Amino acid sequence: MPWLVREYQDDDFEGVVRLLDATSSDQASVFSFPECIVALRARQAAAVAVSHGEVVGAVIAIVAADRAWIARLAINPELRGQGMASSLLVALERQLVSAQVRRVGYVLPHEELAAEGLRKAGYEQQPALAYFEKRVALEPGQASVLEALGGEVLSPRLWDELLGMRFEKEVIERRVIAPLVHPELAAQHGVSPPRAVMLFGPPGTGKTTFARAVAARLEWPFVELLPSRLAEDDAGLAAGLRDAFAGIAQLDRVVVFIDEIEEIAAARGGPGHSRLHGVTNELLKLIPAFRRRSNRLLIAATNAVHTLDSAVIRPGRFDYVIPIGSPDDEARRALWSSHAHAADVDMASLVAASAVLTTAEIHHAAQTAAQASFERELLAPSSPDVTAGPTTTDYLTAISSIRPSLTPEIRADFEADTRTHARH
Ligand SMILES: Nc1ncnc2c1ncn2[C@@H]1O[C@H](COP(=O)(O)OP(=O)(O)O)[C@@H](O)[C@H]1O
Ligand SMILES: [Mg+2]
Repeated sequence: MPWLVREYQDDDFEGVVRLLDATSSDQASVFSFPECIVALRARQAAAVAVSHGEVVGAVIAIVAADRAWIARLAINPELRGQGMASSLLVALERQLVSAQVRRVGYVLPHEELAAEGLRKAGYEQQPALAYFEKRVALEPGQASVLEALGGEVLSPRLWDELLGMRFEKEVIERRVIAPLVHPELAAQHGVSPPRAVMLFGPPGTGKTTFARAVAARLEWPFVELLPSRLAEDDAGLAAGLRDAFAGIAQLDRVVVFIDEIEEIAAARGGPGHSRLHGVTNELLKLIPAFRRRSNRLLIAATNAVHTLDSAVIRPGRFDYVIPIGSPDDEARRALWSSHAHAADVDMASLVAASAVLTTAEIHHAAQTAAQASFERELLAPSSPDVTAGPTTTDYLTAISSIRPSLTPEIRADFEADTRTHARH
């Protein structure tokens, strides 16, 4: 099929759009479809190949001062390998030269076939270059809503930085994250993505850390609702909560975190209930509306799951109730390894000695040991060949100085709560 290459004209618009659309899956570019359309409309520089009145090839450039970027090079798959890429590039170049462009860049995936056409047209691959890209997680307009709510966009690394806690991570990964990341597949199997989950466990076990890590893993903004920020006193709390959820409804996607939810959803008849009756009712009304929208997840945390209003934690409101326990052997080993770098530290004894400590207490003990080692070195510097850093003894001393917050009663309560309330 003969084809002719020429400068792009407005009449070609539809044909080019159709071609870009048809070739978008296998002729990738770092420039998005909308970016290509904007460039076409602006008529900065573009060339087409036409055959029997149909657009069978197109190249679109974005020009910035004396530099141009090729936004897309699209070729009808049946006509590849016939030199069309280099003809298009030559035609484009003529326009670029008259627009005073000195350098033309094109970033494309490694395996992209057009590389051959590029070389023929005189383009050289720059092997030392690596392409870096950061996706800004927020659309314009969302940032100000997020700021008003005191929300933030977290580093995606947080999830991987969660050490140990394999059981909890796996439950959350499968039940919570997977259906939210793959909603179509979940729907095919009849799985409704979770909209609200409750984390419970003693203080310092990592509930807040998990909530933040889930937001990071989903790459959704994170908004923590703090009762103290919502209102000046309990009387204003219901209205504050309502306002906050109205703001949240404006976000396209979000993880909302309510820590110490027992503070706003105490059990009927329990302590604090009459004072908080209106607030609990408000929350009961807000959760169903929140659940109706996709791309959002409410995470609540509590140290005292048994004191919650049972209407709040029932299945229609919270999909899962997940215990976050003190770190198991593997988690403690991972935590200690993240602190103790010296090869001769006896990990097994640190893991055993810290059996009843929380994650927070292990971090604290590691810090105490590090400080002791640092002060010793300051006072009496050791010879350069002695390994710097805390010794096993430093760590064990630090561990023994901690009064564990997880008393036998607290641990027994947590186990009882897990038997009675956990749902995952
Ligand atoms: N799995 C973990 N890996 C590493 N650090 C953790 C982990 N879980 C908790 N931490 C750390 O332990 C401390 C207490 O965690 P936090 O999430 O505040 O506990 P909670 O909210 O249950 O009271 C924090 O300093 C946190 O960074
Ligand atoms: Mg917390």
